[in-house]
Amino acid sequence: MSVVSVINYKGGVGKTTVTANLGADLAARGRKVLLIDLDPQASLTYSFYRPADFTEQPTIRSWFEAFVAADAPEPLGKYVLAPLAVNGIVQPLGGQLHLIASQLGLVDVDLDLAAGLGGSRFQRNSPRYLRVYRLLAEALTDQVFNGYDAVLIDCAPNFNLVTRTALVASDHVIVPARPDYLSTLGIDLLRTRLSTLVDEYNSVAEQPINPEIIGVVYTMVQYTSTGPLLTQRTSVETTSEIEMPVFRQTIRDNKSAITEAGQRAIPAVLAPPGSPAVETLRYELQQLTSEFLARTRI
Ligand SMILES: Nc1ncnc2c1ncn2[C@@H]1O[C@H](COP(=O)(O)OP(=O)(O)O)[C@@H](O)[C@H]1O
Ligand SMILES: [Mg+2]
Repeated sequence: MSVVSVINYKGGVGKTTVTANLGADLAARGRKVLLIDLDPQASLTYSFYRPADFTEQPTIRSWFEAFVAADAPEPLGKYVLAPLAVNGIVQPLGGQLHLIASQLGLVDVDLDLAAGLGGSRFQRNSPRYLRVYRLLAEALTDQVFNGYDAVLIDCAPNFNLVTRTALVASDHVIVPARPDYLSTLGIDLLRTRLSTLVDEYNSVAEQPINPEIIGVVYTMVQYTSTGPLLTQRTSVETTSEIEMPVFRQTIRDNKSAITEAGQRAIPAVLAPPGSPAVETLRYELQQLTSEFLARTRI
């Protein structure tokens, strides 16, 4: 089982779109996939459920809250959902897509977890530090998760404690980004924060972690008749200057295809045959999955 965090400081860069489609396409290729929505905005959850169909289901917020209240984690397995629409497509293909959902109140969990640690800064001697940072990693060692090939975690656009539990649990990290100069600077900062986290964690942990950034995925790339906009090509080149791995496949700005898919509770990569815009998006997303598989060897 491989755990992958999808992260960027910025919102609106395509994290959720990449997570949902990568997960769905892996499942359509016969893999058993678990998606975890760690963003209080819950967009990943609503990629698989129409709001009217998502009412009473348990969410990761309650799981974290139960830990804060009882100082002991509940089994995470009972929070796993199997969204109907997408599984109707991927199960006949031998795959499976499960989801641990999110909900708005997850924002407060960050404050509660930090309060329990006496602040969000690293404290070498805090006996609780490892327990809190390892919460998700530990929960995923439960044998109910043995059958999954991949766990993809859609992180919130921050570096708070909940996000850090995802990074500590991860083997790989994917960074969706828009191809503009500021975003490129943000990526460099993210890499610095990640390596600080890893160094601090490994200085107190018995089992070192080594989450590896496998690539930046450029999304919402704008094309002209001669290819990607020149300014955007420049920022893609800047990424290679800061020596970050970059996915060769980019996802172009394709509002109409995204909108068409958005209303079905099924990610765009699994949309029924449609307009050229839909087919272009599907092709790019599938190429991204292939590249992901090559990079992770899942
Ligand atoms: N390739 C794309 N072309 C056009 N719109 C996109 C594309 N990818 C995502 N979007 C839209 O942009 C918005 C932000 O994407 P999302 O994946 O939710 O980003 P994040 O999770 O980083 O906040 C959403 O409304 C989404 O539907
Ligand atoms: Mg999102």
